[in-house]
Amino acid sequence: MCGIVGYIGDKDACEILVEGLKRLEYRGYDSAGVALLADSRIDVMKTPGKVARLEKMVSGPRPAKVGIGHTRWATHGEPNTVNAHPHTDCTGKIAIIHNGIIENHSALKTKLISLGHKFRSQTDTEVIAHLIEEFYSRTSNLEVAVRLALKDVDGTFGLVVMSASEPDILVAARRGSPLLIGLGDSENLIASDASALIRHTRDVIYLHDNEIAVISRKNVSLKNLDDEAIEREAEHLTFDLEQIEKGGFDHFMLKEINEQPETVLNAFRGRLIDDEGISKMGGLRDVEDKIANAKRFVILACGTSWHAALVGKYILEQYAKIPVEVDYASEFRYRNPVLLDGDIVWAISQSGETLDTLAALREARGKGAPVYGIVNVVGSTIARETDAGVYIHAGPEIGVASTKAFTSQLAVLNLINLLVARKRKTISLEQGREIVAEMHRLPEKIQKILDQTDQIEAIAEEFKESRNFLYLGRGVNFPVALEGALKLKEISYIHAEGYPAAEMKHGPIALIDENMPAVFIALGDSTYDKILSNIQEVRARKGNVIVIANEADGRLRELAKHIIEIPKTLDILSPILSVIPLQLLSYYMAVKRGCNVDQPRNLAKSVTVE
Ligand code: F6R
Repeated sequence: MCGIVGYIGDKDACEILVEGLKRLEYRGYDSAGVALLADSRIDVMKTPGKVARLEKMVSGPRPAKVGIGHTRWATHGEPNTVNAHPHTDCTGKIAIIHNGIIENHSALKTKLISLGHKFRSQTDTEVIAHLIEEFYSRTSNLEVAVRLALKDVDGTFGLVVMSASEPDILVAARRGSPLLIGLGDSENLIASDASALIRHTRDVIYLHDNEIAVISRKNVSLKNLDDEAIEREAEHLTFDLEQIEKGGFDHFMLKEINEQPETVLNAFRGRLIDDEGISKMGGLRDVEDKIANAKRFVILACGTSWHAALVGKYILEQYAKIPVEVDYASEFRYRNPVLLDGDIVWAISQSGETLDTLAALREARGKGAPVYGIVNVVGSTIARETDAGVYIHAGPEIGVASTKAFTSQLAVLNLINLLVARKRKTISLEQGREIVAEMHRLPEKIQKILDQTDQIEAIAEEFKESRNFLYLGRGVNFPVALEGALKLKEISYIHAEGYPAAEMKHGPIALIDENMPAVFIALGDSTYDKILSNIQEVRARKGNVIVIANEADGRLRELAKHIIEIPKTLDILSPILSVIPLQLLSYYMAVKRGCNVDQPRNLAKSVTVE
């Protein structure tokens, strides 16, 4: 999500870092900073906003030949100067840049404060700077101090550290967040992404999880976190800059679809208490009881986020037994809605800037209701204007069609459901534990679906000339049908409608003939037999049927032209899986029709107009 670059050599480090950061900016850009090491001291310069602002701040030749730089996409603490990276220890002699999330940062911070460390920011990263300082004071060896500090850390990191006491090395380490070292002539670089390196070198060494690298001007040595040396050959990069930015995928949308095992994991990270079968979310800590005692939830959103809200309604009513109303933000704000004592209003938004959602939440606040957010972009207007909230941690979503943000919104709604249901005692400890266990399994199950891309691409090839599509699902998967239809129309310009499957006989069935494919979501839940009858009705009218199913039985095999099998999970978590084939189907339909997938006509990523 964030971007990392480090340099050690004989050139102006600042210039190289800023240029590298500009290349990384497409990944996230709420603030940026550099730390430069010269004359046994470290100078840190950082600012909120884009790298261009940092560039102005640091302009002019500078003596430092060693430095680290970072462009941030906030996860902990709003985007401002103090929270921007690099972070330093108490003495200012150790500086660090970090991507990832430190799950046990609160516990570590409390311990470090008791040892006398003084913190400046709200970030999880600063905790590592102080932890390294602590070990450095005992070992006087940066590599050892970093290794020992990382043993105490739970979570993910790609990080680079430098110390004014050891000016001839950079120390880097990785667990879960990519890092690669660029090998130059009497200079070496490190970055989170090849795009920041390839102007200088195409010879690189990728760091693997749980590895640590010591990088000097002429040398790179690798070890694992157990202090065992590792030998690895350098690789020569051949791909171009655009391919690198898209992570080797043809489009950002496909990259983002493929990121979902990781983004769903990130939404759950540090928020599940396995033993107690409950969730915890920092942003809701102070209002947990208020939420559990609410009389009603009203969820406001637009587009894909509205579909997520609708899934939330099914989940929360079924498990937490709380009445939920879902409203289009644009309708809510103009219909003089009734809000009652005990209502809690939630606003869901990927961008955090959607004008209709913002206006609706202001309307709700004006009526005296507490408003909480479920937002992706940290520090966005909706995040700032809500009383409390949860970040979904999906990372920057660049493709205009929302994909990974949707599944992360569903993950967070499930966390909220788990919290409320356990607190209201509408589910037992055992049920809570079962949900948590299944949440842990989701990333692997998502990956299984992503591995079936070829089948979905072949289906797209067969149906790419269709002019209309129907999407049908029931229960918690009815909103997924709506989302599948929205994805198809917005990027492939094929007309598509989503319906609850049983509604078909009340009208849409009149449309069905051999030219009207119908996509059913028919998972092995209580509605399976009923959906089977709906599929029969379509087949009887010669309609082509594509079915998303768990394990297809004989009856289904007889009826459906194509069956896309997805792993089984709990009903309430199933939309996180069932939507993925629909995202892929619309992606391939659009590609095969020659559409601009990442920037569909007439659409904008963030709708800040009425
Ligand atoms: C569809 C899509 C839009 C957004 C909607 C709300 O793929 O991206 O429907 O979901 O404009 O945007 P956010 O979530 O940013 O408030």
